[in-house]
Amino acid sequence: YNAWLSYPELPQGSLQEQYVKWCGAVSVTETDDTVQAALAEWKQGVASMLGIEVQVQAEAALADTAANAPEHSDGTSAGHVIAFGTFGSGNPLINSVFAEADIRKVGREGFAIRTSAEHNCIAVGASAPAGVLYGVFHLLRLIGTLQPIAALDEAVNPVNSLRMINHWDNFDGSVERGYAGRSFFYENNRFIGDMERVRDYARLMSSAGINAIAINNVNVHALETLFISEYLPQVAEIADKFRVYGIRLFLSVNFAGPMQEGGVGTADPLDPGVRTWWQNKAAEIYQVIPDFGGFVVKADSENRPGPFTYGRDHADGANMLAEALEPFGGIVIWRCFVYNCKQDWRDRKTDRARAAYDHFKPLDGRFKDNVILQIKNGPMDFQVREPVSPLFGALTQTNQIIEFQIAQEYTGQQRHVCYLVPQWKEVLEFQTLAKGEASPVKRIVDGSLWGNRHSGIAAVSNTGNDINWTGHLLAQANLYGYGRLAWNPELSAEAIAAEWIALTFGSNPEVADVISRILLDSWEIYESYTAPLGVGWMINPEHHYGPNVDGYEYSQWGTYHYADNRGIGVDRTVKTGTGYSAQYIGSNAARYESLEECPDELLLFFHHVPYTHVLHSGKTVIQHIYDTHFEGAQRAEGLLSSWQTLKDKVREDLYVQVEQRLTGQAAHAKEWRDQINTYFYRKSGIEDQASRTIY
Ligand code: GCU
Repeated sequence: YNAWLSYPELPQGSLQEQYVKWCGAVSVTETDDTVQAALAEWKQGVASMLGIEVQVQAEAALADTAANAPEHSDGTSAGHVIAFGTFGSGNPLINSVFAEADIRKVGREGFAIRTSAEHNCIAVGASAPAGVLYGVFHLLRLIGTLQPIAALDEAVNPVNSLRMINHWDNFDGSVERGYAGRSFFYENNRFIGDMERVRDYARLMSSAGINAIAINNVNVHALETLFISEYLPQVAEIADKFRVYGIRLFLSVNFAGPMQEGGVGTADPLDPGVRTWWQNKAAEIYQVIPDFGGFVVKADSENRPGPFTYGRDHADGANMLAEALEPFGGIVIWRCFVYNCKQDWRDRKTDRARAAYDHFKPLDGRFKDNVILQIKNGPMDFQVREPVSPLFGALTQTNQIIEFQIAQEYTGQQRHVCYLVPQWKEVLEFQTLAKGEASPVKRIVDGSLWGNRHSGIAAVSNTGNDINWTGHLLAQANLYGYGRLAWNPELSAEAIAAEWIALTFGSNPEVADVISRILLDSWEIYESYTAPLGVGWMINPEHHYGPNVDGYEYSQWGTYHYADNRGIGVDRTVKTGTGYSAQYIGSNAARYESLEECPDELLLFFHHVPYTHVLHSGKTVIQHIYDTHFEGAQRAEGLLSSWQTLKDKVREDLYVQVEQRLTGQAAHAKEWRDQINTYFYRKSGIEDQASRTIY
């Protein structure tokens, strides 16, 4: 339940002695809720990891921190103290340890941390209370991962200013694409009101660096439309809890709200009555939630209402809402997941992959500066493998954030392990070439490439009311990892995994090795026994779990791979296909357009080829399919046997949860292997070179 904040007891040793020596006393002089929350966290963490009760020093005692003060019998030292607080707020230690030059390095949400020999103190100073909290979580993390603390000296600032979670929770308690139980906010069209759970959730999120959470599904149904009116008091209660942990609350809103709720006869964004309605709404919201973040909007997408009905475009719609929020500092997060979901299979020119770019590129520069476009990482929908959305690089005058999906909708639904941090890193590192070689996606979304006013990262939550929050225990690593990566995209997938493992399971190196290997191999393994070479979508329609090669091929939803007895893949070239490859810049466009140069892992995303086409790897497409599926299923079994080496080395209840899931995964991977292999064997008639059993 406490996930990575369970603070396992640390092993005896020199580091542990060092921590004990330092952590006996803390100096905190501020009564601010957030600083007090940091103090509570500190006490809890230190008690649990080190078994000592922290003494909070009164101001008078602070002067008394002499270097040669006596050692106490519990190993703490009267001379040593941890101090935290905001700069200039009256804590004498913070004020003595940090000079003007240090303070200048610390941004709105950052912190400075320094071990000062002179003052016998480890000081955490910040410009604002949220920074204090982040700094304390940082120090707890250093201790939890057994890092030395005797010579700390750094200023730490988040790279991305918006670090957001999107919940797809519905008021009835269901969670769209939720794989970890039901909502912990709502049940049966009411707010559950379990504020302790909401607080613990806020603690977890804040400790990972999250500062914004939208609490309801982007598909806003009838009752959720009333979150900005009738249910505002309950929403405000959640916002109150979030605020303590430096998190701003956002709501998804219904573009047709003025009609459905307000009795205005239209939702036309240019209608004065509609504009006034939203302006009044914004004023009402800010009266009860003064730090309300703003609106998340899914409009004209998958049958949701939007400006198209009135012959207006997305800029008209978004700007109208932005105008309403502007006086209060709120923002509109407008999603770019807009496409024609009724594509006919005979129509080879319409291409869902093109849609976001085709809709939004022409609007670049037309959005108000408190509008942010939220763009999914790929052009389709969170497949295990997709190219990066070409909108990154195409929009040069628009605030934009990337949207990842922590929920494993298409990557095993939290029954399979699939650590997604390596995938996200690959996306963030992608060179868009928008401004030459130094234009990776991470520099677009952090706002530095184009100097955007708002920027950052959002992701769809993978949480629910399951006791471990994420269903699969190992899926916690995605939630934690997402937050850490949003804070600092330079962290490696390995380092993030190592942190999560130590904080969750303790510091046994053997345990860490095994779990780390499982996590780091898992994305590749999942990809290998599911959809090959970037083709995607070979899952059961609607619920999206389990193999079904032709599921979407024969669905009206229209997401095709065009496999027949001669070949497979979607021709997205300019020369003979949908022209999608031209949405990329320079050598990226050329590479994807070219059959010879296109990377193997994306071949079938961009090209339709015969099964006998030879990949860069030297294998034919059909042999690649057979090999990866046989190997993938075998490696899935390997994940289970690796885990089984940890029996008796990790807490029994944790061990059992994961063992069960990995057992299920190993069996399901075989089902994938057999269905995919038999499908392509029968289509192609080509034998497996290794003569393995294909049904
Ligand atoms: C996917 C997902 C939907 C969701 C949509 C979105 O298509 O399957 O459940 O509503 O994405 O991002 O809006």
